[in-house]
Amino acid sequence: MISAPAHLVRLSRAAFVFAHEGVLGLVDPAMVPVPARPLLRLARLIERPAGGTAEARLSTALTRLGPSYVKLGQFLATRPDVVGATLAQDLERLQDHMPPFPQADAKAAVEASLGKPLDSAFLSFGPPVAAASIAQVHRGTVTTADAPRDVAVKILRPGVEERFHADLAAFTFVARHAENLSAEARRLRLIEVVDTLRRTVAVEMDFRLEAAALSEMAENTKDDPDFRVPAVDWDRTSKEVLTLEWIDATPLSDRARLAAKGFDLPQLARALIQTFLRHALRDGFFHADMHPGNLFVDDEGRLVAVDFGIMGRLGLKERLFLAEILHGFITRDYHRTAEVHFEAGYVPPHHSVDNFAQAIRAIGEPIHNRTAEDISMAKLLTLLFEVTGLFDMRTRPELLLLQKTMVVVEGVARSLDPKLDMWTTAEPVVKEWMTRHLGPAGKLESAVQSAGEVGRFVGSAPGLLTRGARVLDQLDEITRDGLTLSPQTIAEIDKAEGRRSRWTAAALWVIAALLLWIALRLL
Ligand SMILES: Nc1ncnc2c1ncn2[C@@H]1O[C@H](COP(=O)(O)OP(=O)(O)O)[C@@H](O)[C@H]1O
Ligand SMILES: [Mg+2]
Repeated sequence: MISAPAHLVRLSRAAFVFAHEGVLGLVDPAMVPVPARPLLRLARLIERPAGGTAEARLSTALTRLGPSYVKLGQFLATRPDVVGATLAQDLERLQDHMPPFPQADAKAAVEASLGKPLDSAFLSFGPPVAAASIAQVHRGTVTTADAPRDVAVKILRPGVEERFHADLAAFTFVARHAENLSAEARRLRLIEVVDTLRRTVAVEMDFRLEAAALSEMAENTKDDPDFRVPAVDWDRTSKEVLTLEWIDATPLSDRARLAAKGFDLPQLARALIQTFLRHALRDGFFHADMHPGNLFVDDEGRLVAVDFGIMGRLGLKERLFLAEILHGFITRDYHRTAEVHFEAGYVPPHHSVDNFAQAIRAIGEPIHNRTAEDISMAKLLTLLFEVTGLFDMRTRPELLLLQKTMVVVEGVARSLDPKLDMWTTAEPVVKEWMTRHLGPAGKLESAVQSAGEVGRFVGSAPGLLTRGARVLDQLDEITRDGLTLSPQTIAEIDKAEGRRSRWTAAALWVIAALLLWIALRLL
């Protein structure tokens, strides 16, 4: 148990850093209650001159405050209802880079976690090649029966768990007080926001789970010619250390090098979209952090993904739903698309299928009139979920995670081929899957499976989980929800837009009070 003064000390340091780096300067004073405005001005007095762009200021402040704040920042990027659309966008662009920890600490961490001397596990162990808030990656070599093999060793930042624990306790402290003081904070379920962050990070900080995700994905994709993942070296993997086959490949972000190597960029874009859809539809298990930093192309032209900390799962029911709506839009069968929503039980039966079909047609038709490169599947899903909200549909969190990932994947694909045609790219994957599952042979297979699936669905509903195996519970929830939140919270996102300014004001009150507290301490 950490005491309230200890929380206040941590938080006041954060308030000071935010003020000093000029993050509070990003706040529109008009959104702050009048009595708090002098405090905001006071905060601005300690602002460092030449803080740079909003993004740069945020980045400096969060990096100074450490990993928990970087994660909080990334997390709040998915919550425009809490922080406002502009700040959410700035946060979304933040890169997770941190100065590396010393080589000696890395070696000591590996030895402690694997329980053996470094030399007995690795033939060589090089300096870090990448460092971020939770971990850093080193290149090493191991002996095998034939020849030495290169490996990537991802090491959990020493002390990061303790730090998270303390920082998250402080965040909970703020959330609890905010919920006591403000109806707005209660509506946004701030305590739940912090809890979700805690669970997400707990999963990301256990590398055995990342290794298991890699291994599951490897099994799912073993026959796919255009995608692969690095193999896990289980003998050198523990909670804090993840050892993988070293991937010698070109980053997908390095277009010039890809082109110089003679890769067909539009073909890579198609492969990326099809790969993602295959994982989502066929396997129901997808990588939910597909930014270009995590994607590579090997010399055989295959896509390689790393970083399996955040994964999404779709049950058969969601996959059938997704395939049917994509198929419905591709074939312009809006009535069928509408029916699917009712059949899945996502839209309450008192609504009219015809009215719903009309709303969907309003999204689909304009898209069909556009040229191929203007069609965005991610945008389509985004619009669809907006419309479905009007019909009291509570969007499943796993579908929202899919939609968010699709926005990222589509962005990466378009950077490789601005003329990418989403429909013709998606069609073969959707069609193949539909034929298998909805064709005469597939019907039976799916019917049998979905009976079990629906049972699982109910069985894993929040609240019905037993409290026992915590990490597994958490894993289940996180892989279902990823960085998204519970259905209730998501429903709130739609409603909260107009109330955002008042909550920002409440948050500022807390920060203002802290600054006052520091000021009094200093006097
Ligand atoms: N198996 C690998 N082979 C080569 N480089 C890797 C491998 N795994 C990770 N890396 C490099 O390390 C970076 C960070 O690894 P990643 O798993 O993405 O960690 P983080 O979760 O900190 O982003 C990657 O972007 C990549 O450049
Ligand atoms: Mg990464």
